[in-house]
Amino acid sequence: MNSVLLAGSEIPGGEFLKERPDAEHVKQFRLFTGNANPELANEIADYLDVRIGSALVSRFMNQEIQVRIEENVRGAEVFVIQPTCTPVNDNLMELLIMIDALKRASVRTVTAVIPYYGYAKHEEKTAGREPISAKLVANLITVAGADRVMTIDLHAAAIQGFFDIPLDNLMATPILAKYFREKEFPKEHLVIVSPDAGGVARARAFAGRLDASLAIIFKKRPRPDESEVIEIVGEVEGRIAIIMDDLISTGRTLITGTNALMARGAREVYACGTHPVLAGNALELIEESALREVVVTNTIAVPRDHQNGKIKVLSVAPLLGEAIRRISMNLSVSELFV
Ligand code: R5P
Repeated sequence: MNSVLLAGSEIPGGEFLKERPDAEHVKQFRLFTGNANPELANEIADYLDVRIGSALVSRFMNQEIQVRIEENVRGAEVFVIQPTCTPVNDNLMELLIMIDALKRASVRTVTAVIPYYGYAKHEEKTAGREPISAKLVANLITVAGADRVMTIDLHAAAIQGFFDIPLDNLMATPILAKYFREKEFPKEHLVIVSPDAGGVARARAFAGRLDASLAIIFKKRPRPDESEVIEIVGEVEGRIAIIMDDLISTGRTLITGTNALMARGAREVYACGTHPVLAGNALELIEESALREVVVTNTIAVPRDHQNGKIKVLSVAPLLGEAIRRISMNLSVSELFV
């Protein structure tokens, strides 16, 4: 079951494969990457048939971040690929300093390509005297000089409004749906499950692509990073259930959801989540659980030695590459999802 798609391998999201930009056009845009997910950046570069721009992104002895753009970028349209995943603060700071360096090197525009947007779960105050960290991060990216942001499956769509610059929030749903369509599960036996009330719109869209029915888990969090199922709405008995989530962090939402679905007679339970945060012992919990398979994408790299038999990684490189090509040619990005 283990597989990470590398550059040049078969692309499950193949529906995004379109024509390559021509040589003249390639000269107009450049890709750069920090240290958050260089494998993904290389895959995007392969898709676009361009190379990654040369930049030093390192540390001084005192651990401050050192950045130097090592080629002329004057007047260029630049895309910096940097998910703000663990170590989230380092990766965020690298992104900010790279944007600053590029702006000071007289680029025409900088697009911050942030496939996974860290701090997205802190998009509102849930109690007094809490921050709204997702808004603070948006301010930091804007003040650093980004002209545009591209991301995938933001945890809360409202974060788009935290920016006063254009933000393209792409969806991994077509890639995940294609993978499950190829399993040819009988539609009448398939149910897509939202693991919480907040994920219903996403799960409904996924169910629509698979022509499946919908169920909703209502959960509560007795303490941060814990999850408890209160109720399940929808028919799950005898069905193949696919829990659809945006991110998998501790894995507890998936595990408690799976146990509740099995207790109500589900035949088998799969899960998918765009962002494999996989914090703490999430991989062990998934391995020991009743889940058949957990399908994620490579917005965050899943190191080979951290993969277990149940994790399947699909590539978002064609999606991001195609969106970059379209933005740089002033073509529609939303047309990718019709
Ligand atoms: C919650 O609103 C999210 O959509 C995910 O369900 C949640 O963040 C997953 O976290 P964990 O894996 O820690 O339960």
